[in-house]
Amino acid sequence: MPEAWTLGIESTAHTLSFGLVDPSGTPYPAMSSTVRPDEGGIHPREAADHHKDAAANLLGKLLLQTGISLSEIGAVAFSQGPGLGPCLRIGAALARGISSRLNIPLIGVNHCVAHIEIGRQQCGCQDPILLYVSGGNTQVIAHLDGRYRVLGETLDIGIGNMLDKFARGQGIPFPGGPVIEKRASEWLESNPNPSLVGLELPFAVRGMDLAFSGVMTAAQRLLDNGAELGAVCWSLQEHAFAACVEIAERALAHTGKSELLLGGGVACNTRLREMCTMMATEREATSHAPPRMYCIDNGSMIALLGHIELDHGRTTSLDKSGVDQYLRTDQTPVTWAV
Ligand code: ATP
Ligand code: FE2
Repeated sequence: MPEAWTLGIESTAHTLSFGLVDPSGTPYPAMSSTVRPDEGGIHPREAADHHKDAAANLLGKLLLQTGISLSEIGAVAFSQGPGLGPCLRIGAALARGISSRLNIPLIGVNHCVAHIEIGRQQCGCQDPILLYVSGGNTQVIAHLDGRYRVLGETLDIGIGNMLDKFARGQGIPFPGGPVIEKRASEWLESNPNPSLVGLELPFAVRGMDLAFSGVMTAAQRLLDNGAELGAVCWSLQEHAFAACVEIAERALAHTGKSELLLGGGVACNTRLREMCTMMATEREATSHAPPRMYCIDNGSMIALLGHIELDHGRTTSLDKSGVDQYLRTDQTPVTWAV
């Protein structure tokens, strides 16, 4: 087991975040800064500039908050991919700098696997089916033969990007997911027995895969035809989440596993958590979701995966520390899970 603290740097997209795990692998709340563009989506270059400018101050604040000094840090981990190239490169450059300045090991980790590992640790799951729902990714995953295998995934955009894009069309700034959740639940409060009549949307399931762009276009069309925003938000959530829950249930059925674990930013959503619990309960399985601060992108999950990798003897040499925008969940060997 590593004898010192591990620092984690997350910079795949909109958020720069520093996090720490202590020598026993316990994560501490991360210090994060998120780009919130005045209009339009996230611009990779602008996000990278934000990360560069925010870094020193953010790291200083984390050390102050946690009460540890740089000399207590024994390793530094960073998100090597997947993500936006310019943003990834800032995180990698920071990590290389800290590694050489403090003369400590460098560990490049897979961002998707980090979402999974913090969930497994926080929820105490053994061998779950994972429903990884974030901005860029929507995957159903199971561990098999030393890898996290993708059993089903979105064929077009991630569910979070779909929610953000739909929201942006209504003038709601990034991140749109939490605002859609709020609008939907407010609408439900004043319409306790909703009917789907008039709010029909396409179902996003394609075998074990998903596709969200058609649902988003259809939801926008409902608004164009005069439907109430709250009603459309509610309906969009119900349809999109039901599709994710459906393929997660198929995965549980095919593999015979009995734990479902949620991860990624969209896993903050209370309605999605509720739907997963309902499905799992009906199958006599269990559904788990980590604390919300560990669902959204955070440096603590990167530190935790770095700690685990180090514990299994893996570090990253400088010449192998380049970023990989297209790194996939199943490309990373996972030697520690069952
Ligand atoms: P990844 O690289 O793993 O795809 P990401 O860059 O999308 O990660 P995350 O922080 O994992 O970042 O997820 C952000 C997404 O989560 C955004 O699309 C945001 O709208 C969505 N989100 C956050 N909270 C909620 C919520 N309560 N309901 C629905 N969506 C949410
Ligand atoms: Fe993420």
